[in-house]
Amino acid sequence: MNKVLVTGGTGFIGSHVCLCLLEQDYEVHIVDSLINSSPNVVQKILEIKNLKTKIFEKDIFLHIGDIRDEKFLNQIFSENEFLSVIHLAGLKSVSESTENPLQYWEVNLGGSINLFKIMKKYCCKNLVFSSSATIYGNTDKKLIDENSEIKPINTYGETKASIENLLKNIYHSEEKEWKICNLRYFNPIGNHNSGLIGEKPSYPPNNLFPYLNLVASGIKEKLLIFGNDWPTEDGTGVRDYIHVMDLASGHIAAMKYLMSNKPRILNVNLGTGKGTSVLKLVKTFEEVNKCKIPYEFVSRRTGDVARTVADINLANKIFDWFPERNISDMCIDGWKWKNFGHVSI
Ligand code: NAD
Ligand code: UFG
Repeated sequence: MNKVLVTGGTGFIGSHVCLCLLEQDYEVHIVDSLINSSPNVVQKILEIKNLKTKIFEKDIFLHIGDIRDEKFLNQIFSENEFLSVIHLAGLKSVSESTENPLQYWEVNLGGSINLFKIMKKYCCKNLVFSSSATIYGNTDKKLIDENSEIKPINTYGETKASIENLLKNIYHSEEKEWKICNLRYFNPIGNHNSGLIGEKPSYPPNNLFPYLNLVASGIKEKLLIFGNDWPTEDGTGVRDYIHVMDLASGHIAAMKYLMSNKPRILNVNLGTGKGTSVLKLVKTFEEVNKCKIPYEFVSRRTGDVARTVADINLANKIFDWFPERNISDMCIDGWKWKNFGHVSI
């Protein structure tokens, strides 16, 4: 039995996780409603994999449906025995979550409850969950470790913190049974270096990197930089950007760690431990991709913080996981995806 279920597996992070799983010879089952992704992603993953070694379509299965649909999940679990579940399906826009809290609570928390119920029913109690650094409150800490205060400031973050709480309750209700790892991602960017899979752009994008791509493509005239008066090296916001392929390999490391250890619940940061300012990211992007990014400083965005950088000692130590790609790699690979003409606006 080497089947792994990946919810949200056709999405940005999920597609890279699926690729890494296939490269390690797992049989991958994706559950995705395709609300923010395309079924073609499966073919692209196979194409990338075939560049190295021949794999067969029987190694990856797409089950199209919603995690809120109990009957649908029940059917999949009744036909397959899964080693582990990697749960990425959900909605992720901070602004949308503030405008439509009911939808975010229903999909993120409601969908997760449904999934965990089915996992319990079928005694599949190994879980890697996509959490987020957004659950940490604003802090002056230079590096944010996993014991930092949990104090989300937006609806999206509250749904993630609540799922973590629920998982804590589930774990304590059956302590000798569940193996759970909440992965708290910092800022995933970049794509697989084939340029064949990547993030489906929302328009206009909320996040910096997709916006940078649109400016580089000439679709947007200039980048608006939210504040140059932050208490940082050059006055612009500092974040911990992590290449999505490193993030993906962190999931496999977490899953393997859980499988080779006794039941437990863990919270683990995935970042690089290094901060990069908006200006530094812009300059690197221009340099490595030989393009110009016009920008203008505007006032700070509500809810932003000066700096968030992960302490990744725990992931280094227990998973023996170390990110391998730097900011230049992230800018080169992140731009290739757009160069392949996948932008659909
Ligand atoms: P994404 O939107 O590209 O992928 C999410 C996938 O889940 C999509 O394919 C979507 O179709 C699917 N989905 C959504 N609702 C569903 C439902 N009800 N049932 C079944 N499938 C559903 O997003 P992503 O960037 O790949 O993020 C994956 C996970 O990581 C999310 O849970 C997100 O909250 C979390 N996360 C993302 C970031 C980031 O910056 N991208 C940061 C921290 C955490
Ligand atoms: N920024 C700009 N201009 C833009 C967009 C962003 O200057 O057009 C700046 C922001 O002010 C910030 C930095 O670029 O200083 C990064 O902003 P992002 O929106 O890309 O990322 P955030 O760190 O604000 O938040 C993101 C996700 C959250 C997630 C968090 C950590 O939106 O959901 O990363 O994973 F929780």
